[in-house]
Amino acid sequence: MAQFVGIDLGTTLSGLAYLKSDGNPEIVPNADGERLTPSVVYFDAHEDVKLVGSAARDGGDPDRTIFQIKRHMDDPEHLIDIDGKKWTPSEISALILAKLKRDCSRIIGDIDEVVITVPANFNELARKSTIAAAEMAGMKVKRLVNEPTAAAVYYAHNQGVQGRVLVYDLGGGTLDVTVLEVSGDNIKILTSEGARHLGGGNFDEILLTAYEEQYRKQTGAELFSDERHRRRVLQAAEDAKKMLSKLQRVNDTIANDKDGGIARIDLTREGFEKMVRRMLTRTIMLVEQALDSVKLKPSDIDHVVLVGGSTRLPKVKTMLEKYFAKAPKSCGNVDECVALGAALFARKSGRIQEVCNASYGTLAMIYNAATGEEKLQNSVVIPKNTPIPCSRTQMYLTSEDNEKLIEVDITQGEDEDPKFVDVIGRLTLDVPPNRPKGCEIAVTFSYDENQRVRALVVDKQSGRSRELAVNYKGAGVLSEEELKRRTHHLRAMRIE
Ligand SMILES: Nc1ncnc2c1ncn2[C@@H]1O[C@H](COP(=O)(O)OP(=O)(O)OP(=O)(O)O)[C@@H](O)[C@H]1O
Ligand SMILES: [Mg+2]
Repeated sequence: MAQFVGIDLGTTLSGLAYLKSDGNPEIVPNADGERLTPSVVYFDAHEDVKLVGSAARDGGDPDRTIFQIKRHMDDPEHLIDIDGKKWTPSEISALILAKLKRDCSRIIGDIDEVVITVPANFNELARKSTIAAAEMAGMKVKRLVNEPTAAAVYYAHNQGVQGRVLVYDLGGGTLDVTVLEVSGDNIKILTSEGARHLGGGNFDEILLTAYEEQYRKQTGAELFSDERHRRRVLQAAEDAKKMLSKLQRVNDTIANDKDGGIARIDLTREGFEKMVRRMLTRTIMLVEQALDSVKLKPSDIDHVVLVGGSTRLPKVKTMLEKYFAKAPKSCGNVDECVALGAALFARKSGRIQEVCNASYGTLAMIYNAATGEEKLQNSVVIPKNTPIPCSRTQMYLTSEDNEKLIEVDITQGEDEDPKFVDVIGRLTLDVPPNRPKGCEIAVTFSYDENQRVRALVVDKQSGRSRELAVNYKGAGVLSEEELKRRTHHLRAMRIE
């Protein structure tokens, strides 16, 4: 029987869950017997095989090992060269998804349709790349769901969490803070703030620097000279970090990779917390920013819920407790709840009201009455946090006589200054010549429930129009044909 499943495609760990017949979601283990699969791919030099998961993470040539590819999902030009073949982030993610699909379908049966979760602040391109990755892995994406939304669905189901909720998700690579309202089966998202490059991976790197310093102090030598050894020590640092979530003090012994010189590393929880204090403070600033943007105070929040492996750090809990004057809730399996919530999504009868994750608009010459000058500015058509799906139209006037080609740049970002927004697409429209300036051009943006944007430009006088699914065929995104070819290619690969 074909199953309906949810997948959390994480920066460090990925998980797949399905909905049991009793209506409860359950994680499906991979063929290595693990509930979560490290999001790591290794390209073997000898055999034509791609390793995914722990085997990929724990051994092998660092030049052939790909970590944290999720951080590059918005950049199709971030190509990884392996033996002359250039892999896109989407293709690397497809290998991870292909292993999940293959391993888990042995236990629960065919997997065709999936709900995949993405960070709330993932942009258009990253969302599109995620959908393409799933297609290449032979799965149809029923819907993309924001990670905090999926987590909230799980908390509502599992812990009866209701009311105004703040989801604090600190994973391996990103922080996501989302404020939402849960009422029965209905969820209404109010806002999301996020920081990329802020998560457990950063804490490991900071700890690694401490290892290096202590080693140097004790032996006068360098701890590592190559990337392979560096990765091993990084893994040891991560293990020590996890122990410090349970113990006050941890000792470790490390050797360098040349003469085996040994040093003893002494770590305390207090010392580690000092090392990561600035980063943790930044997470609270983002919490503040999220609350400010919807004009709420900490006391307006009924429940703070913890998501992501890094919320196991005791300091995260005490910090949030101090800020909100109430203890945050943890479901325990903080690194599984996003996948579990995604699986629950299948049967949800209630409504999920999401908001758009960024402002969208266009570049236009705006007349400033005070200075009497015209200036190129970003003109927002759909502001951030507008409930979706939505559609908004704004009128613009042509600025020159005899304009034959209308060019509409589609922007993502709030700032008025074009320098501080991203141009994520461009629409061009041929219009009849020999017209004076001041012809009306209507620009309509619509935002669908997968948080994908469409733009429509209409020349009012001639009725000519042009529509674009932003980034669908934008720079670096695969054409349908290319996608099919790569899907076929991927099916024939040996993935272990
Ligand atoms: N006991 C623990 N103490 C501290 N950190 C932990 C603990 N257990 C797991 N982590 C950290 O949690 C992180 C992984 O969390 P999670 O699986 O939620 O991330 P992810 O979903 O892969 O990342 P992201 O949500 O950023 O895409 C790792 O950095 C890991 O070291
Ligand atoms: Mg996560």
